[in-house]
Amino acid sequence: MQKITIAIDGFSSTGKSTVAKQLAKKLGYIYVDTGAMYRAVTLFTMQHDFITKEDFNVNALVEKLGDITITFKFNEVLGFAEVYLNGENIEREIRTLEVSSYVSKVAAIPEVRYQLVKQQQQMGKDKGVVMDGRDIGTVVFPYAELKLFMIASAEKRATRRFDELIGRGDEVSYEAVLKNVQERDYIDSHREDSPLRKADDAIEIDNSDLSLEEQFDKVLQLVDRTFEDLK
Ligand code: DC
Repeated sequence: MQKITIAIDGFSSTGKSTVAKQLAKKLGYIYVDTGAMYRAVTLFTMQHDFITKEDFNVNALVEKLGDITITFKFNEVLGFAEVYLNGENIEREIRTLEVSSYVSKVAAIPEVRYQLVKQQQQMGKDKGVVMDGRDIGTVVFPYAELKLFMIASAEKRATRRFDELIGRGDEVSYEAVLKNVQERDYIDSHREDSPLRKADDAIEIDNSDLSLEEQFDKVLQLVDRTFEDLK
């Protein structure tokens, strides 16, 4: 069967990666979590003290971009590809609230976006890919056959992220998580380079009140329709 490209964009914690992983498994496609790539660059930036609460040395980061190698390796047990920074598995480190608090600033740097978008386009060049992020349907794959744009209320999203962080043993407050979600929404959708916006041909899915099963059923119908339209 013909392979397609599926672009999933939306605000943080809208469940993009859950749907993307389910779809990739069902279709036998590659799943690429582009947020993890921006988080990896952010972790590198933090490890080199280029960013603190008070300061962000953008030039120092841009000069060092060539030293960053991001790879994905499929984990058979987890059933998805984990992200590596210069050969080190950083899947856990990149999901902290601290990384989340800096990532939107790092992701707003045009040089960072240029490098990562190039890599993402390379990863999806043969189609058969489900990619999630903020600019996949608008910038990375504007000709994707299926584009989804996921939304949910900030409170629902913060609750999901809070439960996830608490579940893995992090000490965070709901208020801090909600504040981070709202701050990232603002920065991600107001930056100059590739701001988060719904592509004109993307299909919006509000999952505030949908169960995972209901959501997946809806998405599968859209996938079937896309294949029908291509016949
Ligand atoms: O999907 P996520 O929450 O892990 O993404 C982390 C941040 O990375 C998000 O706040 C904005 C940025 N990002 C981006 O600018 N472009 C993408 N394609 C993916 C993520």
